[in-house]
Amino acid sequence: MRHLLDTRTLSRDDAILVLDTAEDMAATQQREVKKLPTLRGKTVVNLFYEDSTRTRISFEAAAKRLSADVINFSAKGSSVSKGESLKDTAQTLQAIGADGVVIRHPASGAPARLASSGWIDAGVLNAGDGTHEHPTQALLDAFTMRRRLFGADSRGRDLDGVSVVIVGDIAHSRVARSNLWLLNVLGARVSFVAPETLLPYGTRDWPVTIHHSLDDAIRLEAPDVVMMLRIQSERMHAAFFPNEREYARNWGLDDRRVGGLADRAIIMHPGPMNRGLEISSGAADSPRSTVLEQVANGVSVRMAALYLLLSGERGESA
Ligand code: CP
Repeated sequence: MRHLLDTRTLSRDDAILVLDTAEDMAATQQREVKKLPTLRGKTVVNLFYEDSTRTRISFEAAAKRLSADVINFSAKGSSVSKGESLKDTAQTLQAIGADGVVIRHPASGAPARLASSGWIDAGVLNAGDGTHEHPTQALLDAFTMRRRLFGADSRGRDLDGVSVVIVGDIAHSRVARSNLWLLNVLGARVSFVAPETLLPYGTRDWPVTIHHSLDDAIRLEAPDVVMMLRIQSERMHAAFFPNEREYARNWGLDDRRVGGLADRAIIMHPGPMNRGLEISSGAADSPRSTVLEQVANGVSVRMAALYLLLSGERGESA
């Protein structure tokens, strides 16, 4: 693979390779000097057409820890606002010699278009495209689950038999889709919990169990992982906005529901969180919550992805 565009086409072996390489990277981050020379002389461009906090700073930290030169490009304040096309922007990046392009775009399929266009020679990493996929988020989520559930001895393991309940605005969530495909290939059991209006068309053909009640899902699925999602109002027609009080009551992870989880269960959220809506502060800040671990693990996982795709050392087998 030259590009990381989705998890739907990722094999189990490739997924385990990324997770195990991320373990190697995490070990290097315990050292006093965190920087590795691996990508010295390479240029990574963060090309962001949508807002981001975690993904952007995490890719920047990952590339810098591998000694790459990093260029941060935000569509806001660039010539994109003057109508410049993706093709012309990409060819500009080619002209400055980009080796890797990390792209976030509101249009589903934009990273794949960039990768197959012939406009650039760089490896393309999808940092979230529309409602399609967010593969590095799913990989860092799987890495976090593996570490929390199996401890230090998680290298080489998949997530066979792990019960994962994903709750909220599935319809607009690229995180839910990337997690579904990756968790399936790793052997986990996935359930979606959402009101009917926040489930995407076609879900019933996907390898997932559907619930409309969070209480039912917690009772019936005995989750090892509860992953909460925010309502993505920026992708929603106003007619579909749920009533916030009703939503929090039926689908929010509050302190009462946290009390009903098994002792081993962990609480995940990709961020940004809407505290008091899909998740209470008690749940977000509890010892079960992995929210900040997910952010920290994201650097190791993105270091692994950049290394495997751009170093030319193990990229051929990634
Ligand atoms: N998880 C995630 O994609 O967060 P950001 O939108 O802040 O990058």
